[in-house]
Amino acid sequence: MDNLILIGFMGSGKTSAGSRLACLLDCPLVDTDRLIEEEQGMSISSIFERKGEPAFREMETQCLRKLLAEPGGMVISPGGGLPLREENHGLLRQLGRVVYLRARPETIYDRLKGDTARPLLQTDEPQERIRELLGRRKAVYEKACDYIVDVDGRTVEEVALEIRELLALDGGKG
Ligand code: S3P
Repeated sequence: MDNLILIGFMGSGKTSAGSRLACLLDCPLVDTDRLIEEEQGMSISSIFERKGEPAFREMETQCLRKLLAEPGGMVISPGGGLPLREENHGLLRQLGRVVYLRARPETIYDRLKGDTARPLLQTDEPQERIRELLGRRKAVYEKACDYIVDVDGRTVEEVALEIRELLALDGGKG
């Protein structure tokens, strides 16, 4: 199916670059967190609090399955932890081309300091937490993607334009 999926850590710009790209490509942007929030009638934080993270991860897989049943032509922004489930990799590939927005922990911290909407970062040491989670996830993102785009020090516009160019050239990982 001909979709474009942007994966990466929280704060890497999946939704902001995705939204600009959707505008450039004249197609809809679909954010899996928003779909899940609408379906559940509560925020991601409330889902984590009331139902727990494993239930949320299952909702993410079900959300991908639903998107597979839709006609293609979307830019999809999944939650940062969605690629953690191995079974989701196959679903992502079935959905379309997967771009990993790679960000350094410093960039993520800079963008997300003070954020209260991400339950996994509500700790006294968010910097440490970002470093630790990113360290564990890096290989997962690399494995799940077709392309890697570095976002550090770059604007949303620059990132969106690079992705559009990549798609036009249709190269491999790099
Ligand atoms: C998560 C990322 C969040 C959201 C939830 C868990 C994660 O999405 O799904 O807080 O595990 O990385 P964003 O990447 O859009 O912030």
